[in-house]
Amino acid sequence: MLIRLFTLGRPVPASALASALPTLGVEGAVALGLVRVGGGRAGVAAGRSTPPEREVAATCDLRPYGDDAHDWWVASDLSELVVGGPLRRDHVLGIGGASTTLASWTVRRPVERALDLGTGCGVQALHLTGHARAIVATDISERALAYAAFNVALAASEHSGAVPPFELLAGDLLDPVAGQRFSLVVSNPPFVITPRDEALPLYEYRDGGRAGDALVRSLVRQVGTVLEPGGIAQFLGNWEVPAGRTWRDVWGDWLEEQARDGIALDAWVVQRESQDPAEYAELWARDGGALPGSEAHSQMYAAWLRDFASRDVERVGFGVVTLQRPATDRPTWRSLDEAHGPVSAPMGPAIDAGLRARTWLAEHSDDDVLDVAWSCAPDVTEERHGRPGAEDPSVILVRQGGGLGRVVRAGTLLAAYLGVADGELTARAALDAIAEVLALEPEQVRAETLPQLRDLVADGLLV
Ligand SMILES: C[S@@+](CC[C@H](N)C(=O)[O-])C[C@H]1O[C@@H](n2cnc3c(N)ncnc32)[C@H](O)[C@@H]1O
Repeated sequence: MLIRLFTLGRPVPASALASALPTLGVEGAVALGLVRVGGGRAGVAAGRSTPPEREVAATCDLRPYGDDAHDWWVASDLSELVVGGPLRRDHVLGIGGASTTLASWTVRRPVERALDLGTGCGVQALHLTGHARAIVATDISERALAYAAFNVALAASEHSGAVPPFELLAGDLLDPVAGQRFSLVVSNPPFVITPRDEALPLYEYRDGGRAGDALVRSLVRQVGTVLEPGGIAQFLGNWEVPAGRTWRDVWGDWLEEQARDGIALDAWVVQRESQDPAEYAELWARDGGALPGSEAHSQMYAAWLRDFASRDVERVGFGVVTLQRPATDRPTWRSLDEAHGPVSAPMGPAIDAGLRARTWLAEHSDDDVLDVAWSCAPDVTEERHGRPGAEDPSVILVRQGGGLGRVVRAGTLLAAYLGVADGELTARAALDAIAEVLALEPEQVRAETLPQLRDLVADGLLV
């Protein structure tokens, strides 16, 4: 009954709600602003012959949600499907695909202080309660902060005392936390690229009010100022790729700007999707509740295309960004990867391991890499393809079962090395033995294999 009322948004008889909430009662739920009496639009039951019993309708979406260790109830505004039309501009988003993506990719190390920027209904902040000793959550929307406060209070009442100190602050991006330091910053920011056109609704939940991808770019530039040494920032974003450039060129510019203007950060960007302007316009014109074919939808669609054309945008990338402030005085590292297929779920442990591996590689020389007895990770398999009856394979593919699900084409040397990488022999000894068997110069074998070894270590295929 509660699911029918709060998750499906269907009215229910007041008597049914009274028995489902015996302590709170209907009046209590009304006083909390969770329901209103009277079914409204959705409450008119078609074809009823007798007057309906007094009904109550939900004023918000309230649904169960959780992680491995917690069960929560999370309130947010009613979805577009329940409202049955365009959303209000200050709509507070419920838990969606982007929320769960960020939650999955978040590194869950125990941390002292964590920040959830653009908390909305507070879903990321709830996840942080499991591993942060103190949490700050910010939003530009007072309605969002009210929902977050409610959801945290609900979590605290269910797990009495299990919620760490929690502060909610109103303001734009990093303004409310200027001068503070965090070990972890997470954000599912309002990254949707939106034409700055007065005729278009500005949805606070997805549109930060900047032109193009300026909001994500400014987050990249500024987030280092609130990170402790060793601290990590993780967020989702869209980025525009103009004609004649690649998404890696765009990120190269952003990171150079970031290092010049702020504290230089390690950067690991994983592009998960790339759309053309028409696909992007289609997706986001629909998202606010305007139906394809309607006048409103056509106007929005056209405005998006004009906006992208004005900046010569050819592609729009989407992905997950992980930035790390080095804990020591060393050069920063950078990984700009593409992973459009399935990845581990949760992905946080692979990101955590990848950060540690990349940092280790940045701090160690090629000789150090050669002196380690690496082994193939247990989720790595090998595929050999060749003509039927052929003695040797023509293609050897090394496939990672977890993490980013990488597939690497291995040449003879790498395949030979992976075949003996069982944690017993150092890479140096193994490569020297391979050089001897193949009658090659050991220096040549090392020089050829080292970049590949570093790459496989970074992504956890060699551990
Ligand atoms: C996409 S929602 C994310 C909600 C939630 N954190 C999640 O993961 O589902 C983005 C949130 O950022 C807030 N926001 C919009 N503009 C902002 C700004 N300039 N500064 C801080 N927060 C902003 C919105 O009100 C909204 O709650």
